[in-house]
Amino acid sequence: MLRFDDRVAIVTGAGHGLGRSHALLLAERGAKVVVNDLGGALDGTGASAGPAAEVAELIRETGGQAVAGADDVSTPEGAEAVVRAAVDAFGRIDIVVNNAGILRDRSFGKMTVEEFDAVLAVHVRGSYLVSRAAYPYMKEAGYGRVVNTSSPAGLFGNFGQANYSTAKMGLVGLTKTLGIEGARNGVKANAIAPVAWTRMTSSLLPAEFESRFTAERVSALVAYLVHDSCEVSGEVFSVGGGRVARVFVAEGPGWRSDDLTPEDVAANWAAVMAEQPYLLTATESMQAML
Ligand code: NAI
Repeated sequence: MLRFDDRVAIVTGAGHGLGRSHALLLAERGAKVVVNDLGGALDGTGASAGPAAEVAELIRETGGQAVAGADDVSTPEGAEAVVRAAVDAFGRIDIVVNNAGILRDRSFGKMTVEEFDAVLAVHVRGSYLVSRAAYPYMKEAGYGRVVNTSSPAGLFGNFGQANYSTAKMGLVGLTKTLGIEGARNGVKANAIAPVAWTRMTSSLLPAEFESRFTAERVSALVAYLVHDSCEVSGEVFSVGGGRVARVFVAEGPGWRSDDLTPEDVAANWAAVMAEQPYLLTATESMQAML
């Protein structure tokens, strides 16, 4: 059994849904957990200390160790407070699962700048800021595991989610670069693109998904990726319904000329667009999961 005894983990957005499930699994397997959650609505408005406190309490009731916090990960002060909570309570920080997220869906032409910025602030800035605050401790210890939460909507695009897609693909770049830079310090960073039945998706997914696309089926991959034995870094994984698959950016064989002209491009468009048998859309990815 993969265990996390003596490891200290931060899970952001752990008051509900996927984060809650990640926190419970890591705690059950011996990790000391900082349960962070702002406790707001799905669109990020409002705040409550309740959800994080309830999850931390549940962990303690079942014999685990946890502290709760309702800091906003999208601000440097909030992110630093999350990491300080780990160090103050448990003396170190080994694992960061950046999971906190919000939605402000609207079609591209109607989306406001505020809606765009608010979504990037939580997903991209939040993940960057918490990892940034934890990184000096990981560097010092020569050990760290980071998981960022991307999305099929970012990898493949999705109607009404220009802000969210931008944020989620941004996390792929952040993950890949942290994977490269962290290598010399024993820090591994990976990203997941999950599908799970939570408050974020229950109004979008068909009802029969509830029993199959459980949060626990996503947490299993997260636990593997933050374990000592995990060798991979800078990778992205699609996960949902019990299926796990590597996702990668693919480039076709292409077409070249030393004297490339616009007309060459037009005349050789079929070769430029040459396809490989990869999954290229969220629908194909979902079909494979099903
Ligand atoms: P959820 O809404 O249940 O959980 C998100 C949590 O993040 C909430 O508890 C919320 O209070 C917290 N949060 C929001 N803003 C915060 C902030 N500034 N600071 C701290 N906490 C904050 O939704 P779910 O589905 O569990 O989502 C978890 C992550 O997985 C999100 O990043 C989401 O975008 C991502 N995701 C989920 C998918 C799904 O199928 N459920 C699909 C793809 C990605």
